[in-house]
Amino acid sequence: MDWKVPLFDTDIGSDEIDAVTRVLRSGWLTMGEETKAFEREFASYVGVKHAYFVSNCTAALHMAHHALGAGVGDEVICPSMTFVATANSIIHTGATPVFADVTGEGDFNISPEDILKKITPRTKGVAVVHYAGYPCDMDAILRIARERGLYVVEDCAHSPGASYKGRMTGSLGDIGCFSFFSNKNLSTGEGGMVTTDRDDVAEKLRLIRSHGMTTVTLDRHKGHAFTYDVLEYGFNYRSTEMNAALGRVQLGKLEAKNKKRAGLVSTYADKLRKIKWVRPVFGDYSREAAPSYHIYPVLLEKGVDREALMVFLKEKGVQTSIHYRPVHTFTAFSGKAKPSVPVLDGLMDRVVTLPLYPAMTEEQIEYIAGCLSAFALSREQDA
Ligand SMILES: Cc1ncc(COP(=O)(O)O)c(C=O)c1O
Repeated sequence: MDWKVPLFDTDIGSDEIDAVTRVLRSGWLTMGEETKAFEREFASYVGVKHAYFVSNCTAALHMAHHALGAGVGDEVICPSMTFVATANSIIHTGATPVFADVTGEGDFNISPEDILKKITPRTKGVAVVHYAGYPCDMDAILRIARERGLYVVEDCAHSPGASYKGRMTGSLGDIGCFSFFSNKNLSTGEGGMVTTDRDDVAEKLRLIRSHGMTTVTLDRHKGHAFTYDVLEYGFNYRSTEMNAALGRVQLGKLEAKNKKRAGLVSTYADKLRKIKWVRPVFGDYSREAAPSYHIYPVLLEKGVDREALMVFLKEKGVQTSIHYRPVHTFTAFSGKAKPSVPVLDGLMDRVVTLPLYPAMTEEQIEYIAGCLSAFALSREQDA
C-alpha cells in the first residue's frame, strides 16, 4: 500500500551501500573483522566490556536466559505488554514466563511492585523491556533482584541509545539484548547484539553463539588453529559481515536520529494537546533518563472505537499499529492460567501506535492530528 505516512521508514544511504559493497568485495562474509569492529564499537558505546553480534534479538534473549541458567522448573518474570519474543525466549530454555503488570496507564513498563508480588521460590530472573525506548525503573528493579539473587535481562529492542541515570540501557542488568530489525532505531535488516559486563557470562555467550566451538572459521583461515573443541551445547546465532558493516554505519548515525525522534515526539505532544480523547503514553515520563523514542503509542479514551479509528486513518493514508496485544492473550499461551494484570486489562484495547521515524516531518504530524480531529467529527455526525 502506498501510505501517505507509513508507520516507520528505513534510512539507508550511500554510506551503508558503500560499507556493504566493501565487505562483498573483500570476500569474507561471516564473523570477520567487521563483526569484531562492530562489537568493539557497540560495547564501547553501551559502556560494557563485552558485546556479541548475533542473528537477531530473539536469539540474544534466548542466549541470555540460557547463559544465566534458566531451565526446566524455573520461572522468569517478564511483561505481557511486549513483543512475544520476550516470552518465547524464556520458554525455549524450559523455564516458564510469569507475566507482570504495566506500571500505569501513562507508563507501559513493567511494574516493580508487581514483580515483587510475582516472585516465588522458583523465580530465577526478571526480563524487562524498555518499552518504546523509555527506560524502566531500574533502581527499583535491580534492588528487588539483587536482594533475592535474581538475574536481570534487559530487552533493549526499543532502546538503543537510551540511558538511565547516565548509564546506557544494556549495561544496567546482567545482560542486554538489542534488535536491529528493519523498523528499529539502528537497523541491519536482521541482527541483534548481546551485551554484558560479566566476564563469566561473556565467555558462555561467546561459545553458545556458535555451537559451543572453541575456534571460529576465521581463526582456522588465518592459520591460528587446525581444529576445535566443543565446550557447550550451542546454537548457530551468528550474523554476517554485511550486517555488521551496516550496523557500524548505523551506529554512527544513532544519536542524531534519536534526537530527531525526540523532536518529533515533542511536536506530536504539541499537536495532540487539543485532542482530549487521545493521550500520549509516557506523556508525563519523568524518570532521570534519556529515552530513544522508538515508537509513538497513544492511549484512547474509554469508549473510542479503536478499529474504526485505525480503518479511518488507513483510508487517509496513515499507517498505525498496536504495540502490543498482550502476550498472555495469544492462543499459544491460552492453556496457562490468566495472569493477574488489572492495569493492563483496563488499557489493552485502547492502545494505538502512530507513525514515528526520523525522516518524518512536522507537516506529517500536523496531518495526522487533522485526521484524528476529522475522525472525532465524523463520529459525532454519525451519532
Ligand atoms: C520488545 C522486543 N523484544 C524482542 C524483539 C525481537 O527482535 P528480533 O526481531 O530482532 O528478534 C522485538 C522485535 O520487534 C521487540 O520489539
